[in-house]
Amino acid sequence: MTYAIHKAAVIGSGTMGGGIAALLAGIGVEVLLLDIPAKDTQPGDPADKRNAIVINNLKTLQKMRPSQLFSEHDMALISVGNTDDDLHKLADRDWVIEVVVENLAIKQSLMARVAAAIGPHTIVTTNTSGLPIHDIASQFGEDFTRRFMGTHFFNPPRYLHLLEVIPHSNTDPELIAFMQDFGSRKLGKGVVICKDTPNFIGNRFMSMTGMQAMNYALDHGFTVEEVDAITGPLIGRPKTATFNLNDLVGFDIAVHVARNLYPAIPDDPARDVLAHAGSAELSEYMLANKMLGRKTDGGFYKMIKADGKKKNSGRSIWRPASTNRPKRSNLRVSASIRKSSRLVNASVCCSMKPIVLPNTSGIITLSIWHTHPTACRKSPIAFSTSIMPRNGALIMKWVPLKSGTQSA
Ligand SMILES: NC(=O)c1ccc[n+]([C@@H]2O[C@H](COP(=O)([O-])OP(=O)(O)OC[C@H]3O[C@@H](n4cnc5c(N)ncnc54)[C@H](O)[C@@H]3O)[C@@H](O)[C@H]2O)c1
Repeated sequence: MTYAIHKAAVIGSGTMGGGIAALLAGIGVEVLLLDIPAKDTQPGDPADKRNAIVINNLKTLQKMRPSQLFSEHDMALISVGNTDDDLHKLADRDWVIEVVVENLAIKQSLMARVAAAIGPHTIVTTNTSGLPIHDIASQFGEDFTRRFMGTHFFNPPRYLHLLEVIPHSNTDPELIAFMQDFGSRKLGKGVVICKDTPNFIGNRFMSMTGMQAMNYALDHGFTVEEVDAITGPLIGRPKTATFNLNDLVGFDIAVHVARNLYPAIPDDPARDVLAHAGSAELSEYMLANKMLGRKTDGGFYKMIKADGKKKNSGRSIWRPASTNRPKRSNLRVSASIRKSSRLVNASVCCSMKPIVLPNTSGIITLSIWHTHPTACRKSPIAFSTSIMPRNGALIMKWVPLKSGTQSA
């Protein structure tokens, strides 16, 4: 079987679906973008009413900065529809990618409808952040599963280099090779083939470190801004750091991903980090109050409107009430290396094995696993950052680790 992708369908037009549609249109692929029909509409209502959700999401996409679209002209390649009226249009698609909420039952029931609508050679993938690929396809026979796999893009899809490809045990080996080639040569991604293990590679690590930072901040009275100041560019990570990343991802998604992970890893000694009482309470509160991040009025940070566009105000909504809060002066970078090291180290210890480099400086050497965007161009998975405070100065060192390795 020779595979090719000229026409795709993306189902789910939220944070990731819109971005993936823009990425595909940017390389000349015709994209059908679907979402659920708008509430209180009936089949036969005008298409713009029926498709209000996907249309609004596309408008949001066009306003996003940095831009998800390579060019405004790419919009001409994106058509819209809804999953009640337009599923039959999947029949002529080369690739259908499911990008709906991170909920197994919803994905399974949608997949059953997709399977009934696709053509005999359509490739079907899921963008799940970590639900088992086998479980999503558990109801299908070999005819479907040989064309099925996970393709996990990272947010925002245009800019983040890593693409995890997670084959089902029945996936046609030719299709795996095709997707690896398409992902790297056509989409320009760093493709890593992953095993179907809980949360695959990136999110197995990120869920743990993200939750650990939140737990630590709550227990020790760090503010959102302080944690982000310490866990962002200072240690070679993107400026979204910890809490701002949750706002970018969508806090509901981050919570679903962490909650799905806990029961899936009963033997992982680090999993208790996902069950911190304070973080669970805060998560409940934020979900109940729709504090989901950039897609609502804010999450950890408040969003403001300026020039008709939503912007991160840089001010956090939430403040910790801990009595353990260190004195402000201790939080200044020059004087706080021990504290910041502890915060980072705490993240590291709870995730995968940290690589500890030889401590040549004789002071403190701290290493963290990391997916650095620049570094990732060479090796999409693992890099180690070494932070050595010497006379109050920070020395950062990038050490490439083995590329393309599996985490668990
Ligand atoms: N947000 C991230 O940073 C991120 C990164 C990588 C992977 N993912 C994964 O991508 C998927 C989507 O995440 P998201 O952040 O875009 O979510 P989102 O909440 O922003 O968007 C989900 C969209 O799916 C639509 N939807 C829900 N049920 C549907 C159905 N049955 N049929 C059609 N559309 C439906 C919703 O209306 C919404 O527009 C999830 O599996 C998530 O885990 C998210």
